Amino acid sequence: MNALGIISKRMRLVFVIGVLSCGVWIFADPGGDLNEGKGPGKNNPGPPPPPNSAAQNAVQLVNQGQQIFRFDTFGDDAYWGGTLQLHQAIEGTNFGGVGPGISPNTALALGLKVDVTALPPPLQQQLRKGKVNLDDPAVTLHLIKLNSVVGVKGTFNADGSLRSVGLTCALCHSTVDDSLAPGIGRRLDGWANHDLDPGSIIAAAPNIAPITTLLQAAIPTITDDQVRAVLHSWGPGKFDAELLLDGKAMRPDGGPAATLIPNAFGLGGYNLHTWTGGWGTIPYWNAFVAVLELRGVGTFFDERLDDTNKWPIAAAFRFGHTSVDDPDNDQVTSKLPALQMYQLSIPAPKPKPGVDFDAAAAARGDALFSGMANCNSCHREPLWTEPGWNDHTPLEMKIDSFQADRSPDGNYKTMNLTGVFIRERGLFMNPANKGRFYHDGRFQTLTDVVDSYNTRFNLNLTAQEESDLVEYLKSL
Ligand code: HEC
Ligand code: HEC
Repeated sequence: MNALGIISKRMRLVFVIGVLSCGVWIFADPGGDLNEGKGPGKNNPGPPPPPNSAAQNAVQLVNQGQQIFRFDTFGDDAYWGGTLQLHQAIEGTNFGGVGPGISPNTALALGLKVDVTALPPPLQQQLRKGKVNLDDPAVTLHLIKLNSVVGVKGTFNADGSLRSVGLTCALCHSTVDDSLAPGIGRRLDGWANHDLDPGSIIAAAPNIAPITTLLQAAIPTITDDQVRAVLHSWGPGKFDAELLLDGKAMRPDGGPAATLIPNAFGLGGYNLHTWTGGWGTIPYWNAFVAVLELRGVGTFFDERLDDTNKWPIAAAFRFGHTSVDDPDNDQVTSKLPALQMYQLSIPAPKPKPGVDFDAAAAARGDALFSGMANCNSCHREPLWTEPGWNDHTPLEMKIDSFQADRSPDGNYKTMNLTGVFIRERGLFMNPANKGRFYHDGRFQTLTDVVDSYNTRFNLNLTAQEESDLVEYLKSL
């Protein structure tokens, strides 16, 4: 009785407030032209409908986010140029740096891509006619000055020489469509650059000592040369985002500990991200990468990183307590909302029936995917991951736990299947780098993936059924 009495009192209050606010609404000018003092009437259609401020806001954020994703270094040039002196390796001795310099051919071989739309038409013509000397580091410097090298941003001195370089998200998470030549074309944001060799790029830095110093917190005797060997071990399309937290330089089997660069499209609706999930959401990972990987000037908190057993380096250097005390100097935090909106908005490319997959076989594969192959129990159509907690133990996956153990909760994330046809077909990548599935690329082709599921989970799929499933995967 008492409780009911309180509720009904509250209800009455809500009712009164409702009436009052209705009153305010009714008596307020609904937006007619105040200057003319006329309200809506027969000859006056009234005010235009209110603008959709959420949509306008979204468009603005997505556009800002695109600029950040492509061009923002978050102040990380102080690290890549200032500390590691990567710009000097690009310049070479002829231009005030060290070593032979990085020619466009070397840069392309390292998997760096050139945005053709940033090149003036005469230069495009010369490139088409093969009249540009791609063995001359001066040309690389010119391409950087034009802001055309995807993910690499130079700053220049008054005399035109390179002062520093910074890196952006696009370095790894964008490629180009090869419209002019292999490696030179229009940007494809969100497409993992599976030709890029980040390890060899970092290893080219003249001063690798700051990385060695970090790693010595886990491996006290490691030398600069050994650090370079670890970086070179990654190979194209791979980066090790956990190395400078845990110092695990190699897998137990001696293979490289790096993981494939994942696509950054089709991420909307996902709870956990990255191969191992348990780190967190997109804005978590964006702050993590901008501050701890790219070494931008920003703030990053995660007390989990204080675990000295799991992440000896991160704990020793208190990475989980990285703070820019004057918020005006923080070059990351204010960008997280726009960056997240852009990440969530990059559409996944759509495969074409008859070109990228066989439609009839894919239809049969569809039935298998949610039928006897049981893939849909984890890769839920049409999100291709579980709505909710999208993580699985290595035991459930029946694979080793090496990479999972490097993450907070020791699991693997149910990976997005959108756009897997790109890798299977090797679109816009060196044929040598195509395929490669699962976090470490252990499966060369989709057939290898399906074949392994067939064995691991005793699915009893025939060869025909396996091939139908593959066609279905290519249609996603
Ligand atoms: C040097 C290459 C490299 C750069 C630069 C880079 N990333 Fe990544 N990114 C990776 C790799 C590798 C992973 C997978 C990491 C893992 O699973 O441990 C990843 C994963 C991600 C994911 C998770 C995708 C998913 O759902 O699986 C997001 C989001 C992301 N990066 C955003 C960014 C942003 C934002 C930037 C710029 C601030 C950036 N990355 C810069 C290599 C890179
Ligand atoms: C128990 C949950 C689960 C089931 C069932 C499952 N998967 Fe997966 N799938 C995962 C996880 C987790 C990963 C990521 C593994 C890794 O990175 O090592 C993955 C990765 C993949 C990948 C590689 C994605 C990439 O980017 O490299 C493909 C392809 C795939 N699964 C297809 C399938 C197919 C086909 C089936 C059914 C035969 C299936 N999966 C069943 C959880 C599952």
